[in-house]
Order: sequence, then structure tokens, then C-alpha cells
Amino acid sequence: MYRTHTCGELNISNVGQEVTLCGWLQRSRDLGGMTFIDLRDRYGITQLAFNMETNAPLCEQARKLGREYVLQVKGTVIERSSKNTKIPTGEIEINVKDLNILNAAKTPPFTIEDVSDGGDDLRMKYRYLDIRRNPVRRNLELRHRMAMLVRNYLSDRDFLEIETPMLIKSTPEGARDFVVPSRMNPGEFYALPQSPQQYKQLLMVAGMDRYFQIVRCFRDEDLRADRQPEFTQIDCEMSFVEQEDVLQMFEGLAKHLFKEVKGLEFGQFPRITWHDAMRLYGSDKPDIRFGMQFVEINDVAKGKGFGLFDNAELVVGICAEGCAEYTRKQLDALTDFVKRPQVGAGGMVYIKYNSDGSFKSSVDKFYTQDDQKAIADKFGAKPGDLMLILCGPAMKTRVQLCALRLEMGNQLGLRNPEVFAPLWVVDFPLLEWDEETQRYYAMHHPFTAPKPEDEPLLDDPNRWGDIRANAYDIVMNGVEVGGGSIRIHDRTLQNKMFHTLGFTDEQAAAQFGFLMDAFTYGAPPHAGLAFGFDRLCSLFGGADSIRDFIAFPKNNSGRDVMSQSPSPISDAQLEELCIKVDVKSDN
Ligand code: AMO
Repeated sequence: MYRTHTCGELNISNVGQEVTLCGWLQRSRDLGGMTFIDLRDRYGITQLAFNMETNAPLCEQARKLGREYVLQVKGTVIERSSKNTKIPTGEIEINVKDLNILNAAKTPPFTIEDVSDGGDDLRMKYRYLDIRRNPVRRNLELRHRMAMLVRNYLSDRDFLEIETPMLIKSTPEGARDFVVPSRMNPGEFYALPQSPQQYKQLLMVAGMDRYFQIVRCFRDEDLRADRQPEFTQIDCEMSFVEQEDVLQMFEGLAKHLFKEVKGLEFGQFPRITWHDAMRLYGSDKPDIRFGMQFVEINDVAKGKGFGLFDNAELVVGICAEGCAEYTRKQLDALTDFVKRPQVGAGGMVYIKYNSDGSFKSSVDKFYTQDDQKAIADKFGAKPGDLMLILCGPAMKTRVQLCALRLEMGNQLGLRNPEVFAPLWVVDFPLLEWDEETQRYYAMHHPFTAPKPEDEPLLDDPNRWGDIRANAYDIVMNGVEVGGGSIRIHDRTLQNKMFHTLGFTDEQAAAQFGFLMDAFTYGAPPHAGLAFGFDRLCSLFGGADSIRDFIAFPKNNSGRDVMSQSPSPISDAQLEELCIKVDVKSDN
């Protein structure tokens, strides 16, 4: 037997037992007469004691061991003289009688401790060492636990986990596909799935009724902290349901996770329409851990001779409670913040509602104290508050103000990662206009159903932007953790949708023919949703980046720096795949 116990389980009740442990040498301390080693495995750390007086050769041997050596030790559990109350094994140590070096190790390039001295790149290159660190290991344990909770919850409710293919047909909608050449079909390519969307709909036609899959998805898009080129969805679909059934089911799943993992209970999640979310927060994924809702002040801000406001489509702001004491420097920093290219505002107007009831603003020239009082009333501001105001084209300004609101939330400590504020955003627009290609795209995907009452608008191209979809997102703390929709199950409506998106009959048949065919064989009404599992895990783990919840993630350029992929392939491989590559190099 390699080991009788793990490094995390021995305590005072085991004193006197003969045990065998295996693990990695975390650190050793040589105190002359005694040498102590911290032995680490997945479960914890146990202190090993080597005594120069009682066993000098063994103690000499122990002194020579380097960090991360893999050891097997046999010995007796004894009570420690100086106890460590911070770890579960801190009351005992092992009086080692036998030491077996299972493997030597090079000195690791960074310290394997909770706070490491390794930078991001180094930790990614040696990810297998990074995972030995508690914070990363704990994240992967959390991910496992959440996956088990999800599986059990859905299985208990008659969902079947069904695998769908990884090599599928490339479709032009959505993000860019990763493609895979087919050797047996020269010049032809599979795509890796961006999601199993069409397959799960086919499973509904197939009568599977309730489907789920914890499934890898692939999207060739620009990466951010919450985006990886391969990521995991909890992908779900249900037949014979309305939007309310879907929201209830998956709100139930989210609540189950909150309860089991965080010990938190929630009432019904709030719901907000997409239009209201944009109007009040400038975002379709509002962070509602704090208020600071937008206030539109066109009526009180215009007509006072301030050209910027007078000419703007929208004058809109937020009220930061108790911030009237902000200094010139702080206000300049906020102005710089909104003027950064990432935010893109031209400038920012502030109005301080001083605690003595007077006003001080950056536009005192144009607005009398009474004018400013009228604006303050519109904001519902009190003495001591600070109003921050932007202006410009409506949607653009809202998005800019959203960035400012979140920044204020950060500055005021209102975005505590241990506070959770879930909500549903509903009634998304069906279609989204793209300036560059001068056409409409499906905001969610082309299989999303319009709201029945808005369906007639499909016949009027001037009204396409007004059509609302039966589509919903689940949002937590400003993160879109999931999204879904009621699907079109009627072939005629689906065809109309393809036409709206600019497909000819031939193109639609070539791209989606198999789905359209399936719809002629009795497609049930169906709907579904997919959670971004990595995002859900990082949120529950209190982190912004999903990277540390993925065992082997890619970096921001989509590279696996450990295995050095992507990488060139040989000419022979290229030839076999009938691919000609002509990469022009700079040198
Ligand atoms: P959608 O495209 O909204 O919907 O994706 C569902 C959820 O997946 C997560 N997500 C990502 N997570 C990490 N990295 C990425 N690159 C990434 N892209 C998306 C998000 C998102 O909410 N088939 C539909 C779902 C449906 O209609 O049932 C779909 O894929 O959390």
C-alpha cells in the first residue's frame, strides 16, 4: 500500500498510529537537532519530524531533499510540542522512521504557495505546478462540485445528458468557427461547435423532451477575462414549455447552486426588460448589487444656453450618494476615465450638492443655483451627493455612462464579490443592425422566436429593429452567465427569419437544410438555455477571470503556452489534408 492516509486527515485522535504518507516536499526547516518537512498533497499538509539524536542518518538524508521532491514516509503520529492552529493537522506531526524518495524534482520556477512569486505567463507555462497551489486546486474542486450538483439537479428532473458531435457543419452566423480539415473529403472542413444549438433542437424533434449536456464549445473571437476560445456550457433544452417554465426551471438550478455552494437563499430573481436595462443601466447585463440608476434630464438640462447639452440627443447621469466632497483631482480622474478610448466620452459634467444646500458644478456659468436644484430634484439627490452627467447620442452615451457607473461602484466598494445579485433580462430585440455589413443579424441566434404579438412586424423591414424576441439572459453581478430563447418550431416562420437575415432559399437550404427538414416531421414547441459554466464557477469563486477555473486555459492570444499550440504542422500533413499554406513572413 503506497499510503495509509492523506496529508490532510491526521489529527490528535490518530496519535500513536503507524502511518504511511505520500506527497510533495513543500518546505523544509533545518533546526540543527531537528529537521522538519511540510509534506503536501491535494488534501493538506502534514509536518514530518526527523530527529538528529535518535536517527542521524535519516535526518542527514532529509536535510538534502529539495522542494517538490516526491516522498513516501513511514512513521508514528505524535503530538506536536508547538501546535499550529491554522491547519487541521496542526496538532500532530509524524516521527519519521522510514523515508523513500519516489522521485526527485528540479527546483520549481516559482514558489508553490498560496501567494506565488510567479507571474501569469510563468504559471501558465508550468500549469501543472500552478495547479499544485491551493487557490487553483480549490477552484477546480469547486468546478467539480458544481458540475455534480448540476448533473444531479437536472437528472432528478428527468433531463437526459446526451452527447452531440464535436465535428459539425460550419455556419456563417454567430462568432467565427474553428475549422478542421477532413482528410477523407479533400478541400472540405468540419467546424467545432460554437454550441450544440441545432443538435439540441433536433433532439427535441427526436422526442427526448428534456436534454442537457455539460459541453465544450469553441469560438474564434477576441479574448477577454471572461472569454476563452474553448469554454464549457451547461446546455439545456425542453419541449412543450413556455418562457415561464424555462425561467422557473433554471432559476431553480441557480438557486440550488447558491444554496449548496454559498449557503445563500433567494426569493424570485428580479426581471427587467432589455429596454429598461439599457435605459437604467446602459447595459444588457446590469450589475444590480448597487443602485445609481441612470436619470435622464433632457427636460431640465436643455434650453439654458449650454450648447453641448442643447444639441445632444440625450443628457443622462448618475447620482453618487455622499460624494459631494470629491476633490478636483478625483473629478479630473473621473473625466480622464470617461475620455479614455475604451469609454469614448467627450467629457463629463459634475454637480456637487454641498451639505449646506448650495451647488457647485462644472457648468455654473450656464446653470443658476435654482437650475441646479431642479436637476438635483430630478436625480432625487440630497445635500452631500454628487451628480455625474454625460451627453450625446442616446445609446452611445448610455454605454459610456455604464462604464462610469461601474467605476464609481468600484471606487465606493459597492461591488463586493461575496454579494450576489442575480436577475433575468428579458424581451431582447430579435434583430440587431450591423453598420459595417449594412444588414440585420439575429441578436441571439436565427432559431429564436419573435414575440407572437411582434411577428407581423417581420413583414415591414422598417420595423425590424422594433421586433422583440422571446429571449432571456440570466445575469449575475454584471456578468452574463447564461442565455436562451423560445425557438421557432414552425418551418414557415423559420424560413421567413432566414429571409430577414438575408439568406436566399438556396443558402438557407445549404446551411440549415437538415434542421428545416426535421421541422417537417413534427417539431414540438421547444425552448432552452445555456449557462456559461466557466463564468458561473468564477463568479461563485469570487474571481473576475475564468482562466483560473479551467485546468489548462489559453492565454489572451489564444495560445496554450505550455504545449506551445497552435503550432505549424508538417508539409506532409498539409499535403495529406490538401491544404496549401503560403504564409508571408516579415524576414
Ligand atoms: P450564448 O452564445 O449566449 O448562447 O452562450 C451561452 C453562455 O455561454 C457563455 N459564453 C462564454 N463563456 C466563456 N467564453 C466564451 N467565449 C463564451 N461565449 C459564451 C456565456 C453565455 O451566456 N446556444 C445558445 C444558448 C441557447 O439559446 O440555448 C448559446 O450558445 O455565459
